[in-house]
Amino acid sequence: MDVREAVASRYSCRAFLPTPVPEATVRDIVERAARAPSAGNMQPWRVYAVAGKRVEELKGLLRPRMATELPKGEGVEYVIYPQPMSEPYRERSFDVGERLYRAIGVPREDKSARYRQYARNYEFFGAPVALFFAREKAHGPAQWADIGGYLQTVALLARDFGLHTCPQQAWVSFHRTVRDFLQLPDHLMVYSGMAVGYEDSAAPINGWRSPREPLDAFATFSGFES
Ligand SMILES: Cc1cc2nc3c(=O)[nH]c(=O)nc-3n(C[C@H](O)[C@H](O)[C@H](O)COP(=O)(O)O)c2cc1C
Repeated sequence: MDVREAVASRYSCRAFLPTPVPEATVRDIVERAARAPSAGNMQPWRVYAVAGKRVEELKGLLRPRMATELPKGEGVEYVIYPQPMSEPYRERSFDVGERLYRAIGVPREDKSARYRQYARNYEFFGAPVALFFAREKAHGPAQWADIGGYLQTVALLARDFGLHTCPQQAWVSFHRTVRDFLQLPDHLMVYSGMAVGYEDSAAPINGWRSPREPLDAFATFSGFES
């Protein structure tokens, strides 16, 4: 698969087939993704890959808590969205949520159906493999950004193996459970999870794509001669 196709076909997949992914494939992706650039070549990413019984174990820890603890969970270890979120960002974020729930026929006012779908995050949307990206608590914005680049490189490499992904900051809401489960040392914190597996192409939740702003809305060009 060429890079353009990988970029164009990546999307946040929210329904996976149970088909297992071999450990060798996951190792290969995680290793190759470390070609991502980082400031000073610090390579600040730390990756925890979980599959099989371990995934089931983590899901089992959270399942009984969903009904009572969502949406807050254990409280976030870091604030994900700016508060307040200014325009045009608020509208984009609202819009993508609307599209997602419309795809599965859940109306805005049906809060419990929305929570049920949101809770699918904590099942990794059925994916057989989970990745957690951790960062040094002492690191700053440049290293966060580097981990973002690493995460995207994983997502693109996954496409080359016929796999899809969904980055999942939702796991930050259960950071204590994840910390205990992964035995994360005190100096690290989870930046994001990621579901990895084969897409269920028949699932309505996978049947839509998020929009993007037109080029001129976010980029300027000058000095080009052709
Ligand atoms: C770091 C990060 C964390 C995300 N966390 C979640 C999440 O917890 N659950 C989810 O369903 N989508 C999550 N997303 C997916 C975004 O909603 C998605 O990337 C965005 O709407 C654009 O859609 P696309 O990825 O399908 O192109 C996350 C994306 C990123 C980059």
